[in-house]
Amino acid sequence: MTEQDVWRWLLAVARDATFATDGASRSCKTLEGHDLFPKASYAARRLLDLYLPLCRGGGGSLVVAHLGQSLDGRIAAANGESRWVTGPEDVAHNHRMRALFDAVLVGAGTVRHDDPQLTVRAVPGEHPVRVVLDPARRLGPDYRVFQDGEADTLLLCDEALAQPGERLGQAEVVGLPLEDGRLSPRRVLEHLGSRGLVRVFIEGGGVTVSRFLSAGCLDRLQITIAPVILGSGRPSLTLPEIDGPGAGLRPPTRRFELGEDILIECCFDA
Ligand SMILES: NC(=O)c1ccc[n+]([C@@H]2O[C@H](COP(=O)([O-])OP(=O)(O)OC[C@H]3O[C@@H](n4cnc5c(N)ncnc54)[C@H](OP(=O)(O)O)[C@@H]3O)[C@@H](O)[C@H]2O)c1
Repeated sequence: MTEQDVWRWLLAVARDATFATDGASRSCKTLEGHDLFPKASYAARRLLDLYLPLCRGGGGSLVVAHLGQSLDGRIAAANGESRWVTGPEDVAHNHRMRALFDAVLVGAGTVRHDDPQLTVRAVPGEHPVRVVLDPARRLGPDYRVFQDGEADTLLLCDEALAQPGERLGQAEVVGLPLEDGRLSPRRVLEHLGSRGLVRVFIEGGGVTVSRFLSAGCLDRLQITIAPVILGSGRPSLTLPEIDGPGAGLRPPTRRFELGEDILIECCFDA
């Protein structure tokens, strides 16, 4: 079985609820990829090992965040420039993650600095619904994600700032109640779930991922570490102080080499 065959199979497992009944989804929890396809090529087995546990057929919800950071914990230079902290393999990984999930979500800071498209281009696959969190409506309509019409797009903001049926460019504007001046990650996920968007990939930036982690809303957190030292810049995770290393989060992890980089996945759902 080639890498392409395996990738297409993984897309089907991730997006097709009928896989719940044929045993494939159960296999995701209990088997390594190479057990399912003993004749798969090395590259195909690598895909299975990394992505099969993230596929979970049967329409089950899964929230995974990713950040690509330097050795000193920066996701961008101080001026916000982040292309590219990690290497091409991690960029392709982000595209694979988009293709495997119903929705890709980012904070307003990422749209402002990167003007990302958030579509699937590096690998075969369908675009996810794009979701931008901009509670204070700081973003204008000119960003690509609002203009290009490549995929359905939602802008989530303070309900006081949204009109019924409003659009920003081609994006649908959705107002949600704020809690302590913020969009509650739990409410955001509930709203997406009400639209059938239960597999959510959070692609940054540091503020947004930190808030979902603090709220206990991540099943998995992927951090790709690149062998580069930026010295200063935008922080990766920013969380409340703790008393010592013993009080840190120490979940089970999976580790993968992505070219020169190392991806560590924290499995809070294990
Ligand atoms: N290396 C990587 O993996 C990676 C990935 C993505 C982005 N980046 C880089 O990271 C930088 C942007 O990251 P960032 O951490 O500064 O910003 P960010 O997480 O992209 O966006 C933060 C903003 O999003 C809004 N927001 C997010 N979650 C919210 C919540 N629960 N409630 C209310 N508001 C929420 C807030 O907007 P308001 O302040 O308007 O309220 C907040 O300031 C850019 O330089 C980008 O290039 C790097």
